[in-house]
Amino acid sequence: MSHIRLAPSILSADFARLGEEVRAIEAAGADLVHFDVMDNHYVPNLTVGPLVCQAIRPHVNIPIDVHLMVEPVDELIPLFAKAGANIISFHPEASRHVDRTVQLIKSHGCKAGLVLNPATSLSVLDHVMDRLDLILLMSVNPGFGGQSFIPSTLGKLREVRARINAHVAAGGQPIWLEVDGGVKVDNIAEIVAAGADTLVAGSAVFGAPDNNGGYTTVMGQLRRNASAA
Ligand code: DX5
Ligand code: ZN
Repeated sequence: MSHIRLAPSILSADFARLGEEVRAIEAAGADLVHFDVMDNHYVPNLTVGPLVCQAIRPHVNIPIDVHLMVEPVDELIPLFAKAGANIISFHPEASRHVDRTVQLIKSHGCKAGLVLNPATSLSVLDHVMDRLDLILLMSVNPGFGGQSFIPSTLGKLREVRARINAHVAAGGQPIWLEVDGGVKVDNIAEIVAAGADTLVAGSAVFGAPDNNGGYTTVMGQLRRNASAA
């Protein structure tokens, strides 16, 4: 895999110093800021909304990758677009009209992503592939940082990678393949080898022990191991 994108999830950051935290990950080579939105309805946890997205926007130049774990979805899309989101992904189970939600995201000038939970079938991609910019495979059940990577994600990843490659070979648009949950220094190589090009890492980055006020060491290890795949 040639270009790997690293997307630290701020879910594990120090929320009292969020501006500083996102500046630190950008300085350490992050490609995206992964922004987890939870509503205590679609998932059993509650995090942050568009106001916080807007607050961090001036602190970084890299794109903000918003992962919506909310139901319903549509009302929040214009608010996140206005708050500076660049990519907005949602779970198909949380939208009554998946195609309409994809169109809504794109009409606001953002890239659109569809998120598949560990038990969600790939059939949800069947009639929407040609409008997606990103497919996000959950490798944990959504709702919490710090969970263990579910190994069956690797087989699913290979299947999605084959579908994307076939789609592009047939003249389709490029689609990023992102993995979210339990990505660590010691498993990132096999995840990339299975086909991922964009890796979310929350606790692995923000929980790294020797960060010395920065995240260069862990980001370097993640990138080196990912590139060795
Ligand atoms: C889980 C979130 C993830 C989470 C990843 O619902 O979508 O982005 O923060 O955290 P780690 O990398 O700690 O598994
Ligand atoms: Zn996420």
